[in-house]
Amino acid sequence: MSAADPNAPASPTSGGPQAGGFLRIAHRGASAECPENTLAAFRRALELDAQMIECDLQLTADGHVVVFHDWTLERTSNGSGVVRELTLAALRRLDVGAWRDRRYAGERMPTLEETLELVLPRAQLNLELKSRGSREAAQRLAQAAVGAVAARGALDRVVFSSFDPVCVEAARSASDAARIGILWDAPPFDRAWQLAAALGAVALHPRASTVTPALVREAHERGLAVYVWTVNALADMLRLAGYGVDGLMSDHPDRLREAVRRLSAPA
Ligand code: G3P
Ligand code: MG
Repeated sequence: MSAADPNAPASPTSGGPQAGGFLRIAHRGASAECPENTLAAFRRALELDAQMIECDLQLTADGHVVVFHDWTLERTSNGSGVVRELTLAALRRLDVGAWRDRRYAGERMPTLEETLELVLPRAQLNLELKSRGSREAAQRLAQAAVGAVAARGALDRVVFSSFDPVCVEAARSASDAARIGILWDAPPFDRAWQLAAALGAVALHPRASTVTPALVREAHERGLAVYVWTVNALADMLRLAGYGVDGLMSDHPDRLREAVRRLSAPA
């Protein structure tokens, strides 16, 4: 495997600090403006210069990978029921845009493949693996996601994260080159550090309210980048940038751009 191979084993520094700011990550796409986790939201995030797009992946009943946040359909579609219990064909019949605004009527639940096709030529992706079924289903989701990205030779442009250790362990088993982010909700962080070390993770993804300068320092000492979720106020973006975080996830990629502009403006 050559050093230029995009599927070469993940380097702990490959998610490292950005010169003059932080990685601008659109959370569920430009989700403050568009229906979350849709191609419309991803296109808008790209227009707003997001450098990475975070989205949520789930496995369908027939083994396909789709982009959707909630376990159930009611909040962000015109359907009802549990996502993982339905087939891809049934899910694709639903409208996932009109709940937000009539102008998004007709948006379909994106497949992973469609998302990779749209985003990867222009931005990186953070694929959050969401699984609530069996251990085996969690493993199948991770294997399918890593496999799809590897098939495009794009493992160096994607970070796989999950609250579920089974998913990130399976991502690592699927490929030495998978870049893994440890998604963490609340202190203590001891188990996060252990998991990161065991899996050779590249990043810690902490909830914004848990982030302190000491946490950022410790992550960096451990060779981990820090990608924080979900930060929507400009003042918080500037404060967290001051702590030295490496990436911020926001529903407002336009504000991320504004924060970086202010940080790089001459005093
Ligand atoms: O990946 C960061 C963040 O999206 C985790 O929480 O519920 O918004 O998917 P959630
Ligand atoms: Mg998410």
